[in-house]
Amino acid sequence: MLWSKSLETGVAKIDEQHKELFRQVDILVDRNQANRVDSTLNFLKGYVAKHFADEEVLQKLSNYPKFVAHKKLHVDFTKTFKELYDQYQAAGNKLTVVLAINSAVIGWLKDHIMVHDKEFANYYISQNQGRR
Ligand SMILES: [Fe+2]
Repeated sequence: MLWSKSLETGVAKIDEQHKELFRQVDILVDRNQANRVDSTLNFLKGYVAKHFADEEVLQKLSNYPKFVAHKKLHVDFTKTFKELYDQYQAAGNKLTVVLAINSAVIGWLKDHIMVHDKEFANYYISQNQGRR
């Protein structure tokens, strides 16, 4: 399991989605689930988009001052993921691309969560406490 508690942001919805992303990415390199790579990649494509959209809704609703910059990070990663996805579709040696996707997604997610999502989560939590 690639998830660790240090990745928790404290916002339940975001944390659940992050955990699901890690679970799915894990399947890509699980030799016992090699027959699920195609469907997992398709699932990930949709789930990444849904996760980003959900996060952005929370940011908008709470008037997050760094919304535009954060959204740009999501847009850029979506592009990277799509490029890798297309490479996978076209590749002869799919395993190489799958490994590249696995490390790209995990690497990006970890950095993004630790810095940017945590920054937003702290803001979001402080905003909601203020309203109680
Ligand atoms: Fe994010």
